[in-house]
Amino acid sequence: MRITTRLAGAVLALLGGLGFAHVAVAQPRLALTPPMGFNTWNKFGCDVRESLVREMADAIVASGMKAAGYRYVVIDDCWQVARDGAGRIVADPERFPSGIKSLADYVHGLGLSFGIYTDIGPKTCAGRPGSYGHFAEDARSYAAWGVDYVKVDWCHADSLDAPTQYARMRRALDQSGRRIVLSICEWGLNHPWDWAGPVGQLWRTTGDISDNWQSVVWIANASGHHAAAAGPGHWNDPDMLEVGNGGMTADEYRTHLSLWAMMAAPLMAGNDIRAMSGVTRAILTNADVIAVDQDRLGEQGRIVIDQGDGTQVWLKRLAGGGRAVAAVNYHADSADVMFRWKEIGLPAGGATVRDLWRHQDLGRHDDPGHDIATGYRVKVAPHGVVMLRIAPAR
Ligand code: GLA
Repeated sequence: MRITTRLAGAVLALLGGLGFAHVAVAQPRLALTPPMGFNTWNKFGCDVRESLVREMADAIVASGMKAAGYRYVVIDDCWQVARDGAGRIVADPERFPSGIKSLADYVHGLGLSFGIYTDIGPKTCAGRPGSYGHFAEDARSYAAWGVDYVKVDWCHADSLDAPTQYARMRRALDQSGRRIVLSICEWGLNHPWDWAGPVGQLWRTTGDISDNWQSVVWIANASGHHAAAAGPGHWNDPDMLEVGNGGMTADEYRTHLSLWAMMAAPLMAGNDIRAMSGVTRAILTNADVIAVDQDRLGEQGRIVIDQGDGTQVWLKRLAGGGRAVAAVNYHADSADVMFRWKEIGLPAGGATVRDLWRHQDLGRHDDPGHDIATGYRVKVAPHGVVMLRIAPAR
């Protein structure tokens, strides 16, 4: 299997090298589970500098985020200011006086990985130099600096063909000699779920998230439609997390993380890790929920019950035959949600149930049967979630 995928990768690389720009080069062994990390944008916007990135990397280790699986430290827009005479991208010398390589070295020294941002067009969304016309130079710079992950945005790119340009960037990254995760960020405009699988390891499915409940509901329900395209090494990206940024209640943030985990979404924290509350930390580092996101089967969960009453049941099959189930309540009042084993694809008979937010094993429950009145019933808080792991009892 591995030999086959390697061979396929080599053939694609050869075709790419012969000038078939539209032929993507496979990177089968990158991001076999959804990438996890931190990105500067949601909290800090353009206000990025090397001290911030170092402090955040330190905090990822000290807070237990690293131990929970968060790995990529990504600088979003505004680190770059110009190109030099040779066409090479130049980091802001005032904000990054030690240079990007030194920052990447620092991050690597903590056992973390390092990411950066650019744009497929001539300018980034914040008006900084983009990569258009410079894919090879930029990929070489990233490789020389030790970049492990690059997010490539879509501003000022309306006249371009997205599949062609992102495949060119993929090829440039591969030819740099360093294995670099490509995070495609064209907001779902060009239906990346149809073509981005062999090109990037993740692709945004919607416009930008905001730190409010409506945004989470909208994105989850939009991104949920593209489940068939996701799998190990190629993930739908419903955007970075807002957990801990202050615009939602703790229950809403729990639902946000739960929905992202059910969707096998990349988990890129977007809050100030240096100053997060105990509640935020407990949400972001919930090992039971993260295990669902990172499950090696790599299935993106789907909505299996939506009765139009403001509640949904999401199902994600897990390696080994278990099921993750999330009962979500979009109401401002608490709600009862009910489902039967057959609705989550389990055979009749007993199953063990674990509550992933209470961290409690709830024991064995028998198949509630086919009578709608006897389903497995949970009470869900307003805008809340009950997330369970259910496995056939042996
Ligand atoms: C776009 C992206 C965001 C962020 C900003 C930076 O809006 O979707 O995630 O990268 O650009 O300018």
